Amino acid sequence: MFDAMTSSTSSTPSTSTAALAGTFTLPGSDITLNRMGYGAMQLAGPHVWGPPKDMDAAVAVLREAVALGIDHIDTSDYYGPHVTNQIIRRALHPYPQELTIVTKVGNRRADDASWPAALSAPELISAVHDNLRNLGVEALDVVNLRMQDDQRQSDASVAEPLAVLVDLKRRGSIRHIGMSNVSARQVMEARSITDIVCVQNHYNLAHREDDALIDDLAQHGIAFTPFFPLGGFTPLQSSALANAAAALQTTPMQVALAWLLQRSPNILLIPGTSSVAHLRDNLAAAALRIPQETLAELNAIAANVTR
Ligand SMILES: NC(=O)c1ccc[n+]([C@@H]2O[C@H](COP(=O)([O-])OP(=O)(O)OC[C@H]3O[C@@H](n4cnc5c(N)ncnc54)[C@H](OP(=O)(O)O)[C@@H]3O)[C@@H](O)[C@H]2O)c1
Repeated sequence: MFDAMTSSTSSTPSTSTAALAGTFTLPGSDITLNRMGYGAMQLAGPHVWGPPKDMDAAVAVLREAVALGIDHIDTSDYYGPHVTNQIIRRALHPYPQELTIVTKVGNRRADDASWPAALSAPELISAVHDNLRNLGVEALDVVNLRMQDDQRQSDASVAEPLAVLVDLKRRGSIRHIGMSNVSARQVMEARSITDIVCVQNHYNLAHREDDALIDDLAQHGIAFTPFFPLGGFTPLQSSALANAAAALQTTPMQVALAWLLQRSPNILLIPGTSSVAHLRDNLAAAALRIPQETLAELNAIAANVTR
């Protein structure tokens, strides 16, 4: 849909904003990422469907992200579908050497914009090829295998779809494999089959089902990348969060992100936004330190949420 552009983003400053949150090296890899990254899902049109209202604004968000030192972009070819990857290519190709693009497979988009499972071998192979083509790369840095909600709840085996990605890795289309929307047991099963560099699950101040999983992954040097770090389609709202932001003279979103950074050193952030102003706001969380007593007040948020 879009031509790859030859123009590039401005070079990464030596002390970038994103780097202020420190770095994390994906296990068994030479990929060291700033812990503050960017999630590209919000760049497509409403309901992650079709093109954005303002294409130039979407391109500007990506270029600003990279200019501010972000070296980790999360995406999927089913965002749009295809649209988000095409915008990434249009904005950033040829990609800076230090940029890592993490994508995911396991769903497709139906004509009604729903997200059915797409975990058969032909669907997974076709999804990987769609990502390669639309991003304009010969190999994908990291591919997350995303399981469905019911499969996570029933703890279904991940062996069959994971074997497809392992084969694609052997063939050179994928460099590293991660998992998404998975239980602790599914992560364990995946790790018994192949090397897993990251896990991407729903987690934030108010949604802490994966507390034990995060600690376990940290012990094994595996990254945990929370999706919906700001609450996703329903942004986080709580008086404790608002009070903390007021006391620290910052925004609730920055507090929510800084809390995640302080929660565990293996947490990598991919907040999503379609706005340069929000991107800058989110990046500023990389420099925010939340004092212990405020952390305790924020920890009480999840305790008050019915899971
Ligand atoms: N593996 C999975 O199953 C899965 C599922 C969902 C998402 N993801 C990934 O995770 C990434 C993050 O999740 P997400 O984007 O859905 O949710 P999110 O980061 O929790 O929140 C995004 C929402 O917050 C708003 N927002 C962002 N920054 C803001 C700020 N500073 N002030 C006020 N509002 C702000 C955005 O609106 P504006 O655009 O107006 O800023 C958007 O509505 C996605 O981009 C995607 O890459 C993965």
